[in-house]
Amino acid sequence: MLKTIIRERRSIKKFNGKAVALSDVTAVLKDAAWAPNHGNREPWRFVVAADKGLDAIRNTMKECTIPKWNMMTEEELEQKTAGFKLPGAFVFVIIPEDSRQKERFEDFSAACALIQNAQLLAWEKGIGTCWKTPVWIDAPKFRQALDVKPGERILAMLQFGYYDELPKAKERTPIEKKITYFG
Ligand SMILES: Cc1cc2nc3c(=O)[nH]c(=O)nc-3n(C[C@H](O)[C@H](O)[C@H](O)COP(=O)(O)O)c2cc1C
Repeated sequence: MLKTIIRERRSIKKFNGKAVALSDVTAVLKDAAWAPNHGNREPWRFVVAADKGLDAIRNTMKECTIPKWNMMTEEELEQKTAGFKLPGAFVFVIIPEDSRQKERFEDFSAACALIQNAQLLAWEKGIGTCWKTPVWIDAPKFRQALDVKPGERILAMLQFGYYDELPKAKERTPIEKKITYFG
């Protein structure tokens, strides 16, 4: 039931290292792309790292992201980046940055709807996700490694993976406190 999936989906931050099949990631994106989007602009594209792409993306993150890592020993670096190995796949969601403010906002909003679709569809398949926005997502070196063009932006790093423990939900505010009934 949709309501149950929406309520029970959790952001998974501890994966168990099991690989996620590229075909599962592709199937999720295929359905997620039915998100509403104005003018049918479909304002998204994806860079997917799964299977053999996992090692490659991990190395790219090491090289492109946090300069102070260059000063660590191999052992320290291994410890620090071990977590990157654990998601079973990565999806980078790339959106256009339209020069018109309204269209840019619409495109951003549509891509957010797609991301939530993807999280729910993955959850239904027993695959956990976490939507991440690390500080280095806009780093020029990282953008270049992913071949992100001027006029595009990496909106999200979506991690996919299997998990052994379900995190506890952070309670939501009762919706009545968020609603003003007009009139
Ligand atoms: C736009 C956006 C950015 C996020 N960025 C991060 C992030 O950088 N790191 C992280 O650990 N979680 C990130 N999250 C996940 C949230 O922390 C998570 O959704 C929140 O804790 C609620 O947990 P739940 O999804 O299990 O309900 C992000 C979520 C959203 C919607």
